Amino acid sequence: MCAAVAAHYGRRMSSIATAERVLLAPGERPEALVELTGVGRRYAVGAGEVVALADVSIKVAAEDFVVVLGPSGSGKTTLLNIIGALDTPSDGRVVVAGQDITRASRKELFAFRRHGVSFVFQTFNLFPALTALENVEFGADVAGRANARELAGAMLERVGLGMRASHFPHELSGGEQQRVSIARALASGNPILLADEPTGELDFHTGVQILELLHAHAHTGRAVLVVTHNREIARVADRVIELSSGRVLRDSPPEGGRVEIAELRW
Ligand SMILES: Nc1ncnc2c1ncn2[C@@H]1O[C@H](COP(=O)(O)OP(=O)(O)O)[C@@H](O)[C@H]1O
Ligand SMILES: [Mg+2]
Repeated sequence: MCAAVAAHYGRRMSSIATAERVLLAPGERPEALVELTGVGRRYAVGAGEVVALADVSIKVAAEDFVVVLGPSGSGKTTLLNIIGALDTPSDGRVVVAGQDITRASRKELFAFRRHGVSFVFQTFNLFPALTALENVEFGADVAGRANARELAGAMLERVGLGMRASHFPHELSGGEQQRVSIARALASGNPILLADEPTGELDFHTGVQILELLHAHAHTGRAVLVVTHNREIARVADRVIELSSGRVLRDSPPEGGRVEIAELRW
């Protein structure tokens, strides 16, 4: 693990104060927070197998706002699950936040899932028996953040759901549940945020606001990977990683240059 990444990681474990906490000091050089080398994932299905990912090698640094683009079935969710240690690759090496998660012990993985990554799941995965506020508070609490309740309230406000704090998930629309799940990931403040189709349920106006939040989050020294099948969203990324049938088709800045989020139309 390089010293700078170790320092960031260590710092986030020890001192966590505000939602605005910046992981990289001004002038610090961003380091790779995510590094995949030759990663493959095959699933056994009946007598055959499905190749979900093949020979994927990518690096994502702190401050990177990356869009992972590809059609349904191209391996986007599998990629996020592997980076977040929810799935194990069949081949290759995965180093995230300085930790080789393909070789980590159960104890190390436990710490990694709490303090290394935050997920926005495609299906939200909110706790049905917890209110919106409690769901977000849980995210902050598990990551070890101080003042988890206050932080959760502030994050719900930020995603425009302050007035829904005491609602249970079944009392929220799909788009509102999605925003609670985004607030939960933001509140954890971990160095890597993985978001699977985070604007899938949102109207245009709300989707733009959420992209602004995720973009700003990356630029506090974190790495943000947003999965989408929407080419328009890819235009606002710092970098686009395009998948096709489990392979990296391209890894480059958006074609025609990055556009401002306010210029988006979808
Ligand atoms: N647990 C699994 N078992 C078998 N096949 C799977 C499993 N998970 C994903 N796949 C297959 O792997 C491919 C990639 O899936 P996925 O990563 O979910 O794609 P995406 O998120 O881009 O839609 C698909 O063909 C899918 O059917
Ligand atoms: Mg998916």
